[in-house]
Amino acid sequence: MVRILGVAGSLRKGSYNAALLRAAVEAAPEGVELVLGTIRGIPLFDADEEALGLPPAVKALREGIRAADGLLIVSPEYNASIPGVMKNAADWVSRVYPEDPSPFAGKPVAVMGASMGNFGTLQAQDAWRPVFKRVEAQMWFGGQVVVPRAQTLFDAEGALTDEATAKRLTQFLAGFAGFVGKMKGA
Ligand SMILES: Cc1cc2nc3c(=O)[nH]c(=O)nc-3n(C[C@H](O)[C@H](O)[C@H](O)COP(=O)(O)O)c2cc1C
Repeated sequence: MVRILGVAGSLRKGSYNAALLRAAVEAAPEGVELVLGTIRGIPLFDADEEALGLPPAVKALREGIRAADGLLIVSPEYNASIPGVMKNAADWVSRVYPEDPSPFAGKPVAVMGASMGNFGTLQAQDAWRPVFKRVEAQMWFGGQVVVPRAQTLFDAEGALTDEATAKRLTQFLAGFAGFVGKMKGA
């Protein structure tokens, strides 16, 4: 069994990226357990606050990533890049302490995303690459899920109504899980 932590990068209730992550949980192939993490409650990074101890929401996310075999980032695109709330969470997680190294180091990571525009977060996905390179994560490039015009693919309750996207999610997770499995065995 491969255990993947999924984290969506939007805080709004009707988030298409959170909906895409829920759809991925439904679409996960056999042998893949996709569990949900969150960036909710993570304060703006402040080194003075950090010196007083890690905020509980940061601790929880770091522990969730550490406990998982792989990390799935479901990222919106803001102004052709990474949303600030999600980059802020990643910055907290990236911090290295003598007895608490960053859980990103060596962690297999995949990125996907949904947008309301025509390009489905392509630029945001590219913008994550230098970040995960810098933190020495193992980014997977063997598949891609870009979901354009998300407003046409989910119903009012946020359930995915498009079968082709559901199929792509299953294939993407199977590919990523294969990569994670290889990394585990290495
Ligand atoms: C500040 C801001 C910037 C945005 N920039 C882009 C963009 O560069 N490309 C894009 O496709 N969508 C952009 N969008 C639209 C988002 O794709 C859309 O709001 C999407 O629903 C956000 O993800 P969510 O539904 O998970 O919250 C932007 C939205 C916001 C609020």
